[in-house]
Amino acid sequence: MDGNGRWARRRGLPRVEGHRKGAKVVQTITRACRRLGIEALTLYAFSQQNWNRPPEEVQALMELLGEYIIEERAEILENGIRLSAIGDLTKLPSWVREPLGKLMEESSQNNDMELCLALSYGGREEILRAVKIIAEKVCNGEVQTKDISQDMIEENLWTSHLPPLDFVIRTSGERRLSNFLLWQAAFAEYYFTNTLWPDFEKEELMEALHSYGVRERRYGLTSEQIRGSGVSGVD
Ligand code: FPP
Repeated sequence: MDGNGRWARRRGLPRVEGHRKGAKVVQTITRACRRLGIEALTLYAFSQQNWNRPPEEVQALMELLGEYIIEERAEILENGIRLSAIGDLTKLPSWVREPLGKLMEESSQNNDMELCLALSYGGREEILRAVKIIAEKVCNGEVQTKDISQDMIEENLWTSHLPPLDFVIRTSGERRLSNFLLWQAAFAEYYFTNTLWPDFEKEELMEALHSYGVRERRYGLTSEQIRGSGVSGVD
């Protein structure tokens, strides 16, 4: 959700005002995804690297998250949304971690859409953690090296509860992955837009989804093979 800082700067506002507007857009886009029947939406709200931002900005972002959890609680519960989070949540202040954990628990039986917040998240950190968990199992004899598989790695990622990643939208003109869902993105489709996150509206979400819908996902196969098998983003 990139571009909050630039959005604010262009208006002569402090960066936090860009994040505040960004949080409103989170609500709009989550509602739109819920109505569209999207199975899972993961929002990159705070990276491991974001801890190195100026302390006032980190504090402001944590406060926004805390407010978001309180303000969106009813909407999440009433709309069948299951809230989850990926990342090193132990680093979050307890006044964010505890209400977040409570809302995750309260919404855990909901089934209409998964809303996953990537908080204190890093793709490399996630893979490293999975490697350590598996290495530990090898050391204590629970797993043999020859049995380590892609499935086993996936089971030990923070995202093990999520469906396969189909589509990533990156706003604000950046053309980088920035440590987001690195393993999961192996076969994902990307949509890069110059729109800053605070200006990202439902109309552009529809445009992005349309672009996804007409792509052919080949997973290394040929078009002919895909058309024959019916495996495609088109159908
Ligand atoms: C990146 O833009 C954005 C972030 C680091 C924070 C994203 C947070 C929110 C949208 C609000 C809080 C989240 C929720 C779920 C309520 P940037 O600040 O790096 O923008 P810039 O590149 O223009 O400086």
